Amino acid sequence: MTNTAHPFDALMDITVRPQAVFVRGEGSFLWDASGNRYLDFVQGWAVNCLGHSPAAVADALCTQARLLLTPSPAFYNAPALKLAKALVDKSCFDQVFFANSGAEANEGAIKLARKFGALHKNGAYEIITFEGGFHGRTLATMSASGKKAFEPLFEPKVPGFRKARLNDLDSVQRLISANTVAVMLEPIQGEAGVWPATDQFLRELRALTSKHGLLLIVDEIQTGMGRTGKLFGYEHAAITPDIMTLGKGIGGGVPLAALLATERASCFEHGDQGGTFNGNPLMCAAGLAVLEVVGEQAFLKSVTDTGLFLEGELQKLSARHGLGEVRGRGLLLALDLKLPIGASIIAQAFEAGMLLNSPQPNALRFMPALNVTREEIAELIDGLDAILTKVGAARRVA
Ligand SMILES: Cc1ncc(COP(=O)(O)O)c(C=O)c1O
Repeated sequence: MTNTAHPFDALMDITVRPQAVFVRGEGSFLWDASGNRYLDFVQGWAVNCLGHSPAAVADALCTQARLLLTPSPAFYNAPALKLAKALVDKSCFDQVFFANSGAEANEGAIKLARKFGALHKNGAYEIITFEGGFHGRTLATMSASGKKAFEPLFEPKVPGFRKARLNDLDSVQRLISANTVAVMLEPIQGEAGVWPATDQFLRELRALTSKHGLLLIVDEIQTGMGRTGKLFGYEHAAITPDIMTLGKGIGGGVPLAALLATERASCFEHGDQGGTFNGNPLMCAAGLAVLEVVGEQAFLKSVTDTGLFLEGELQKLSARHGLGEVRGRGLLLALDLKLPIGASIIAQAFEAGMLLNSPQPNALRFMPALNVTREEIAELIDGLDAILTKVGAARRVA
């Protein structure tokens, strides 16, 4: 890994990037300009739910591109209408607003909650979010996030977010006041290192928010679209949230996100919300192609089965190398390394042709394509086994 500028790099230096330039992707594999192949368990940060450049998405994009790109968000278009209807048919929500990124969908959720507070709760505007939570990189979504590293940045923050502790109902209860309008959380905190909200906590949170007339907002940008083995993560807890945001997997690799709300919570008036590219037919055509595959029960069952297989293989790996627990659900899993060696492991994995992510120094996160095969998982486990053996030997020598 290096952050030396690329010879022709005019991109802002916003993160450490390896020198490789990626030119092609297919399923679970990526190729760089030198022809090196990489087994990808990052998939654009849990974006490519059907793998790299799936034929279904590519075909939908080509067909739609020849028909109509953008008529204007002030006009209806067929793919947006069809995708919105398909999403409400498969969820507990009634209305959809399409966005271009997860952060934008979450901004919409925050605005919708504040509008609800203005209309129905005497101007209440505070949203209770969670320590460790991640909701995006706009000013409001950074303010809503509970990521420690964000705290000193871009002051002053947007006011109105109070942080509770995940799986601690009392910590939520203590923050509820006349100013509170909503509670917002990820069913599994992804960026924090894959920390699940328990099903019981989600049920208790639903009961508590209902009792106080508060909106429950689930940020399913990482957990939605089949990632956990159900189409939406909230289904595991059998609850009915008021608002949900989707991103990442919904476009299967293209920038599409969505804000969904129940009839009661869906209170935007004309002029409150919009955006030039929102709900454009090109992205919605991709979303329809994705949902057609991911929305099938047989596909979701295969995600559950493959997730259990990966979980089992990671547990065996952990036992062999004296590592910690495996957390998560479906194909959003983390392996606790017990030591802050995540960055070194992903650098070695890259050199060995495997793309992995370490959201926290002591954890590896696995978010492969939802149609990843057992052979690809076995290849990953073998590669990781070799790296961990090397790391263990080096530690013994040191
Ligand atoms: C739970 C969650 N919410 C919001 C976001 C922000 O999405 P985007 O990067 O598309 O703005 C992310 C991205 O990682 C996420 O994981």
